[in-house]
Amino acid sequence: MAPAASSAAPTIVGTDPWVPRRYRVAGRRRETRETVTIELEPLDAPIDPPEPGQFTMVTAFGVGEVPISVSADPGTGAPLSHTIRSVGAVTAALCDARRGTVVGVRGPFGTDWGVASARGHDLVLVAGGIGLAPLRPVLQRALGERDAYGRIVVLVGARSPDDLPFQRDLRAWRTHLDVAVEVTVDYAGPGWRGDVGVVTKLIPRVPFDPTVAVAMVCGPEVMMRFTAQALEARGVDPSHIRVSLERNMKCGIAQCGHCQLGPVLVCRDGAVLPYDRVARLVAVWEL
Ligand SMILES: Cc1cc2nc3c(=O)[nH]c(=O)nc-3n(C[C@H](O)[C@H](O)[C@H](O)COP(=O)(O)OP(=O)(O)OC[C@H]3O[C@@H](n4cnc5c(N)ncnc54)[C@H](O)[C@@H]3O)c2cc1C
Ligand code: FES
Repeated sequence: MAPAASSAAPTIVGTDPWVPRRYRVAGRRRETRETVTIELEPLDAPIDPPEPGQFTMVTAFGVGEVPISVSADPGTGAPLSHTIRSVGAVTAALCDARRGTVVGVRGPFGTDWGVASARGHDLVLVAGGIGLAPLRPVLQRALGERDAYGRIVVLVGARSPDDLPFQRDLRAWRTHLDVAVEVTVDYAGPGWRGDVGVVTKLIPRVPFDPTVAVAMVCGPEVMMRFTAQALEARGVDPSHIRVSLERNMKCGIAQCGHCQLGPVLVCRDGAVLPYDRVARLVAVWEL
């Protein structure tokens, strides 16, 4: 639960899912050249704590509203956090938001990664670039109850070392001897001693048991498609592979149809979906 923002009594906005609650930017951290994490504290009654994998609709007032996943697990006491890549008007405004800026938040919406259902399994998290943001709360939660899981593997691919988000977290996660963290980049700069190439090439060599693994995959659609195929080739059951889809969203609450993908409304049925449910839609993912 996010901490209270001020000594003033919060305004109760109500439960109308269309009405944004006001939050203030309380913390701001630059992750990469084009990515910023903002931590929000409520000015109105806070939204319900999101589960890892859920998203909220975040308003930059006067600019617009966009869906953004939570990037920290409120269950660990973290404030409501979003990690945002600046790609257009709204995300640029949110990335530029200074401490004290008031933004709007609706949600939480959508399905979650189902972290609890992965207890007793090996956990394989595969991220492409900022796709690590929605997976970060999964790892935070799993590390908080480490004995509940088998092996934990984190695979991250990025364009270049400078495009790697959460570098501080990656260093911290590497100190856990029972967590395998592997990073690969498309373009290595001087001084890079790690892997070069696509993230899928790490899958055959990392230590996990495919017969008991639950995989959670987030990144560009083409990356998720090839990752799912590589996981299947390693022996992971497609029903144990979860992917997070992105589609243009306007309402976030299954009212406008903007996020439709065949029979799926991504805001309602996703964003996290089992791969075996969406594999047949793969051909239209890029539409
Ligand atoms: C469920 C869900 C969760 C999301 N979580 C996050 C998150 O945690 N962090 C985050 O930064 N973004 C996230 N996104 C993507 C984010 O919502 C979009 O980047 C945002 O809507 C773009 O709005 P804009 O007004 O800034 O840019 P627009 O003007 O809408 O788009 C600018 C340009 O960027 C392109 N673009 C739009 N979306 C993307 C994208 N996702 N990736 C690459 N190019 C894009 C557009 O095609 C256009 O060319 C999520 C989307 C969904 C559906
Ligand atoms: S965003 Fe409106 S129906 Fe999904």
